Amino acid sequence: MFRDLYSELDSRKRTKIKSARLGSNRSIAHNNSMSRKPDEKLANSENAEEISPANGNTTFLDQTLRPNSWDEYIGQTNIKENLKILLEAARQRNHPAEHLLFYGPPGLGKTTLANLIAKETRSQLKSTSGPAIEKVGDLASILTNLSAGDILFIDEIHRLNKTIEEVLYPAMESGSLDIIIGKGPSARTIQLELPPFTLIAATTRIAMLSAPLRSRFSGGVHKLEFYTDEEIEKIIERSAKILGVKIDDEAKTEIAKRSRSTPRTANYLLKRGRDLAQVKEQGLTNEIVKEALQMLNIDELGLNAEDRMMLQVIEDKFNGGPVGLNTLAAALSEEQATIEDVYEPYLLKLGLIERTPRGRTTTEKAREHLKKN
Ligand code: ADE
Repeated sequence: MFRDLYSELDSRKRTKIKSARLGSNRSIAHNNSMSRKPDEKLANSENAEEISPANGNTTFLDQTLRPNSWDEYIGQTNIKENLKILLEAARQRNHPAEHLLFYGPPGLGKTTLANLIAKETRSQLKSTSGPAIEKVGDLASILTNLSAGDILFIDEIHRLNKTIEEVLYPAMESGSLDIIIGKGPSARTIQLELPPFTLIAATTRIAMLSAPLRSRFSGGVHKLEFYTDEEIEKIIERSAKILGVKIDDEAKTEIAKRSRSTPRTANYLLKRGRDLAQVKEQGLTNEIVKEALQMLNIDELGLNAEDRMMLQVIEDKFNGGPVGLNTLAAALSEEQATIEDVYEPYLLKLGLIERTPRGRTTTEKAREHLKKN
């Protein structure tokens, strides 16, 4: 549909775009019916049996667990309802959807949503990430190689460099790409018209995005929330079916409880439980789940050794805090970004730490938990 629209662009402009296609695109991964990897194609099959790793297809396991339609997509109800309206309205207007930004802690499904939107709108998805786009030329190449109606997914968009970010503004706003050819007095700017496309970007660090970039996501800035235990249980049930694993209710509840309210972790724990059950030639019972989780050093709140270490360090070395982020990062030999993106969101959600203007502190609940573990 968008291809028809695009074909109406005057041929002079299209020739210009064609001539600007800057060769191969090493910073991009394609995901569409033509260029998709064989296993991705299977993941879109209507017959879930065909994609079951129990039947031997294990290469892209995590992709096979991704939902293929809104009906299969569990949780994030508010975002889901808003997106369905936005996409349907765009479809009725015969237009690509407006640009979307998803943010939230890792593992909550930002990439999953981008893939799902591509499937639901039958668009071609082209994926890249902020750090993969090193030069303006990389972005120019990606943009000029898009076809009308494509979805461009940029993960970790907060890591896009500022000069490149500025090239993205007119591309998002008016579908034009301004690039400078040459240097010094002979330098000139050329403006290329891009095919209509939708940018979907994801970030774990919304605060690092500049206001001008944020404001260009005309389809909205959407925050992904932690999932409820009930939603996680449904996701585990669905994943177990796809994996061909029989799991009892208690085991499902136990995995959900320790999944950090995150589908990626839930699926990871399910697979580790499945491995142990398989090697022991048993079903996936609560006992097997508990044993697998103990081997992984994951406690009953879903904390791993690193989470507990962070709590212990605040407690022991800094007397329960407050301790500043950089001091804490140095004490843990961790990157500040890892503490902020990976450890803190779930510890904050559980009420095990607090963020005060003077730094991080542990709570009474954390002290109780550390005594038990
Ligand atoms: N797998 C990962 N995230 C999911 C979700 N939100 N719904 C269903 N399956 C999923």
